[in-house]
Amino acid sequence: MSSELHQPLVRAQGITKKFGGFIALHQVDLDIAPGERVGLIGPNGSGKSTLVNCISGMLKIDEGNIFLTGNNITSLAPHARVHAGIARSFQIPRPFKSMTVLENIRVILNFSGEQRREASDKKSNEDKAIEILSGVGLLQKKDSLSGSLTQVEMRKLELARAMSANPRLLIADEALAGLSGTEVDEVLQLIMGMKAQGVSVLMIEHIMSAVMKFSERLVVLVAGNKIADGNPQEVISNPEVVKAYLGE
Ligand SMILES: Nc1ncnc2c1ncn2[C@@H]1O[C@H](COP(=O)(O)OP(=O)(O)O)[C@@H](O)[C@H]1O
Ligand SMILES: [Mg+2]
Repeated sequence: MSSELHQPLVRAQGITKKFGGFIALHQVDLDIAPGERVGLIGPNGSGKSTLVNCISGMLKIDEGNIFLTGNNITSLAPHARVHAGIARSFQIPRPFKSMTVLENIRVILNFSGEQRREASDKKSNEDKAIEILSGVGLLQKKDSLSGSLTQVEMRKLELARAMSANPRLLIADEALAGLSGTEVDEVLQLIMGMKAQGVSVLMIEHIMSAVMKFSERLVVLVAGNKIADGNPQEVISNPEVVKAYLGE
């Protein structure tokens, strides 16, 4: 066995996913190192969401395996993967609009605590919730109803909820969609800051300036096949990648 230091956090190996007779993913491999920021791009319908849904367990794969720090998690249910450290903002139920911002974080912290069979320590959960909310700049909104938040505040709350599950991998599928220019920068900074907390991030994004700022490694899917994986600058100048985007 290799040591945990050198093995990837997540290894998706030979992932094939079919919808009926349609092959949405064809033998896709993807490794994510601890703390690494990986960008995932590709034309619409190329299989990006399908791939992250396979990693988070929302979709069952037809062929291949998914490993988390060397353990095969291919047959683990989505909620078990959350507890193993894979958080996808859409996977955790969306914020409850009739709860306050603080309550939305508390329910996840309480639930995580129960799952780990730890003594439920309300005071430390409260402190933790405050810490997470101030990390995303939502502390002043803690007593507001989630339903009253603006779009960018809602996006920050979704990130805060994902972080409350104490993830090792955060999956952000178009987390910047629909935001204005300054809001994009703001949420991107928050997502990029997760590296400092040791969290790996897999980000699907269409805004190329954000992708290039974010990615330490860039992966390209076209029609269910991985056509490039590596240094972002090299990947976007790869002729096959350029060709794939010409039709867009
Ligand atoms: N649940 C599903 N049932 C049938 N086809 C699906 C399903 N989900 C995705 N697809 C198809 O698989 C392909 C990849 O979709 P998706 O992963 O959502 O693409 P992307 O996120 O790259 O835009 C598309 O052709 C889409 O229509
Ligand atoms: Mg998608």
